[in-house]
Amino acid sequence: MSRTSIIGTGSYAPAKVLTNRDLEKRVQTSDEWIVERTGIRERRVAADDEAASDLALAAALPALELASTRADELDLIVVGTISADMPMPSCAAFLQAKLGATKAFAFDVSAACAGSIYALSIADQFIRSGTARRALVVGVEVLTRIVDWEDRNTCILFGDGAGAAVLGPSADPDRGLLSAHLHSDGRAAPMLWIPGGGSKTPLTHEGLDQKLNKVAMNGKEVFKYAVRALTDVSHEALAANGLTAAQLDHVIAHQANIRIIDAVLQRIGVPREKCWLNIEKYGNTSSASLPMSLDEANRAGKLRPGDLVLMLAIGAGLAWGGAVVRW
Ligand code: COA
Repeated sequence: MSRTSIIGTGSYAPAKVLTNRDLEKRVQTSDEWIVERTGIRERRVAADDEAASDLALAAALPALELASTRADELDLIVVGTISADMPMPSCAAFLQAKLGATKAFAFDVSAACAGSIYALSIADQFIRSGTARRALVVGVEVLTRIVDWEDRNTCILFGDGAGAAVLGPSADPDRGLLSAHLHSDGRAAPMLWIPGGGSKTPLTHEGLDQKLNKVAMNGKEVFKYAVRALTDVSHEALAANGLTAAQLDHVIAHQANIRIIDAVLQRIGVPREKCWLNIEKYGNTSSASLPMSLDEANRAGKLRPGDLVLMLAIGAGLAWGGAVVRW
């Protein structure tokens, strides 16, 4: 079986910038606190007429261009998102229509901030089995529509964006996705969830008043879990490929909190310079964060053929994963 290569990347961040100073006017917080505790200075907010599939399209087009792939060549579209255009159908369905990717079957993956690493791993299975020759993987979120703008524990963290990658079989058997390692712990679900609006608690006027349709989080617990889980999965991914951390050229990590990233890097023994960081500009864009970072690093010319890249992401579920790519 051939490996899967990432043959094109793209990303999109909406134009509107919301700074920490702007947030000081909404909740009891300060630029200093947010920067010190999270590393975030500003985040992007989608325009009123932008839905998740619009952001996804804006990330997918440059990825397809870089991959010299036409939309009608795509066999498969997998979108990681928890803020799709509507509950049904999938964001991927709208994206498929907007792209004119008539041959592709398309679906969403619900793994929150781990959505794009889950999507990458799923698409990899189709490519390696020969079922698909071209796959589009997208992570997209419009989280600013589902956060409680009066909750300073959460509203300072999140932002909107999209990242995309086009996958195909690798021409070189030594290059491409070496392995992906996915994990879940549903017992930790209450640490980070949107409790209302689903079949368990359909939304009522009362539920809306209680903001049950907004993100609720135990930040401290998520923080500790994330550091532990991402450290463990890093070791697992390295061991599976007989690699040491010193051999890694880059870490592309979900940008949730600079202190989470630093703690994981320190525990696995990788210097910060090897990790692409953009949390300062975008905050936590959930499933978009990993492919946005990958695209920025790629377009900055950081990823050279043969480089070893460790990808890491964790989010609600809890769900997390690590993957190793030889670029
Ligand atoms: N501005 C100012 N003070 C704030 C604040 C804000 N935006 N948010 C919380 N605080 C306060 C708290 O109320 C608390 O005050 P208290 O001691 O009087 O109760 C104090 O700051 C410390 O809060 P704490 O929750 O201990 O802070 P923290 O260092 O854990 O940082 C997070 C909070 C949310 C930044 C941090 O826990 C975090 O990033 N967790 C992971 C979240 C995450 O990544 N989620 C997504 C996973 S994909």
